[in-house]
Amino acid sequence: MPAETRDLSGSVVAVTGASSGIGQATARLLVEGGAKVVLGARRADRLESLVDELGADNALAVPGDVRSPEDQAALVAAAVERFGRLDSVVADAGMGIYGGITDASDEELRTMLETNLEGTVWTVRAAVRQFRAAASGGDVVIVASVAGLRGGADEAVYAATKFGQVGLSGSLDREVRAEGIRVSTICPAGVKTEFAIGDGRTEGDPALDDYLHPEDVAFAIVTVLQQPRRLRTTLWEMWSMKQSS
Ligand SMILES: NC(=O)c1ccc[n+]([C@@H]2O[C@H](COP(=O)([O-])OP(=O)(O)OC[C@H]3O[C@@H](n4cnc5c(N)ncnc54)[C@H](OP(=O)(O)O)[C@@H]3O)[C@@H](O)[C@H]2O)c1
Repeated sequence: MPAETRDLSGSVVAVTGASSGIGQATARLLVEGGAKVVLGARRADRLESLVDELGADNALAVPGDVRSPEDQAALVAAAVERFGRLDSVVADAGMGIYGGITDASDEELRTMLETNLEGTVWTVRAAVRQFRAAASGGDVVIVASVAGLRGGADEAVYAATKFGQVGLSGSLDREVRAEGIRVSTICPAGVKTEFAIGDGRTEGDPALDDYLHPEDVAFAIVTVLQQPRRLRTTLWEMWSMKQSS
């Protein structure tokens, strides 16, 4: 019997990193599929523009910083207050500083560790607390990177944060599966977003044409959520056909 795709109509999904790139594309695709989205990121103006685009009935902006456990608890609380519940969380917010281990300042490395690793912990913990309180099960999707599976020169600390996300995800899967909570990690190769452009590339750089598109990663995230509840995808590594692994 073929597996049936889950309908996400009315499903409530909190998405961090929703002000640009993968998070923004994911919010759009989710609303296209009938879901309600709760949008987290620091740039409130961008979140409000996205709410205008998606419709206030479908989207809510909750500006905040993933480095703050309180802000992440507020993101989840806002979802429950506005839409009555939380079904899924997409922990996408992140940043990268590239260069040799001795090149970056203490502050730059601390910011990256706090944003990518601690920020994911605060986001995921807030959501799991809510899933447990509601005894509802739920979905946790973490956006890590292929850097979290292999690592690479000039991205040691970035890769460490991404390995950390993969470790968090795999461990959490073992901890919460029995409660009906699915934990998935998406590991994309380079994606054509502001993040990639910040990585020494400029808009229009032909190398970016070979990258994944943010909509590709959004597709993976939504596909994971649409799986029948008897299935789970713990890890999805993704590349464009032009990217060498
Ligand atoms: N692009 C790639 O090549 C690539 C490849 C593999 C994995 N990834 C991962 O994909 C995720 C999304 O990146 P992207 O490519 O979509 O880049 P992006 O367009 O730069 O988006 C990053 C998002 O993270 C948010 N963010 C950053 N720091 C934050 C903080 N302290 N608090 C709250 N939000 C914060 C940003 O919002 P504000 O600035 O408004 O707060 C923005 O919405 C990241 O985790 C990244 O590591 C990217």
